[in-house]
Amino acid sequence: MCRCKVPAVILAIESSCDETAAAVVANGDTVQSSVIHTQIDTHRLYGGVVPEIASRQHVQHISAVVAKALSDAGISVAQLDAIAVTQGPGLVGALLVGVSYAKGLAWAAGKPLIGVNHMMGHIAANRLSGFEPPFLCLVVSGGHTELVAVEGWSQYTYLGGTVDDAAGEAFDKIARVLGLPYPGGKSVDELARWGNPAAYAFPRALMGQDNLDFSFSGMKTAVISHVQKHGNEDLADLCASVQAAIVDVLCQKTRLAAEKHGFTRIALAGGVAANSGLRAGMQQLCAQRSWQLQLPEMAYCTDNAAMIGAAAYEQYCAGEFAHATLNANPALEL
Ligand code: KG4
Ligand code: ZN
Repeated sequence: MCRCKVPAVILAIESSCDETAAAVVANGDTVQSSVIHTQIDTHRLYGGVVPEIASRQHVQHISAVVAKALSDAGISVAQLDAIAVTQGPGLVGALLVGVSYAKGLAWAAGKPLIGVNHMMGHIAANRLSGFEPPFLCLVVSGGHTELVAVEGWSQYTYLGGTVDDAAGEAFDKIARVLGLPYPGGKSVDELARWGNPAAYAFPRALMGQDNLDFSFSGMKTAVISHVQKHGNEDLADLCASVQAAIVDVLCQKTRLAAEKHGFTRIALAGGVAANSGLRAGMQQLCAQRSWQLQLPEMAYCTDNAAMIGAAAYEQYCAGEFAHATLNANPALEL
């Protein structure tokens, strides 16, 4: 529970990539509504997110998404304690839509404004299940792969991360090479269920016993050269083997970080936390060692606004409010 325990109902807005989302969250852990308008079908036509189209679609949908979040929660803007919005990291044009909308709404309603770090939001998704720090968090999304010691909801220590592609990016790029539709991670996950994970031994990089960094670009190159030589007819085996390699690296690095830094409580965060192989691998790893594992609910793994509301509560308690000068920051760090 937060140190201050001030009751607060927060409207949160998220528009960092290709989901327009709004949620009403009470006291950092109680979701009163969560609405997501996804643009996946549009971006699938292009094989990935087209930033300009994402911005335009956010503009088209944000008012209706916010209105639905408020009506689902049965609350008016006047009854809110604060309005929170993802400030970064993400696509600058997409972020600007949410930031501008939230600033306008907060100013018009005379409510405090809170700028939230999207990655802190992913980590705070675990708060929605009642999980509290300290814990070790494996943050795995389309843009990030990081091991973070979460000492408090606003106290983070970076322990290691990717030196090239993020895990989600690796899934997406490899899926593209295999001819699978966007978003690739989910497609690989679905096909992997039917394949043999030991069919191909794709490389696991930086596996030294002292190394908490990740590298996935070699794996991607190995899959490209495999497909060039042998084609992709055994798609299920290829997906299962790719997923096994990525999951193996993620689990081994998490084990190493936990042992090195003395953690017995582990959480996952980010879109790749929805991966069935990763969830199973982590369950096995933690069960073998009697470690406590927290998996975010599936709905709160990929981008959503409820997680932004959870993270914003900590800032609300600390009185960390934004000014009217709040700007999108596409490269915001943890
Ligand atoms: O957290 P997120 O929704 O957006 C970012 O902040 O990046 O993560 C999106 C990433 C994409 O790379 C997507 O392919 C991946 O999460 N992803 C998955 C699965 N579902 C989403 N990767 C593997 N298996 C899944 N089931
Ligand atoms: Zn995200």
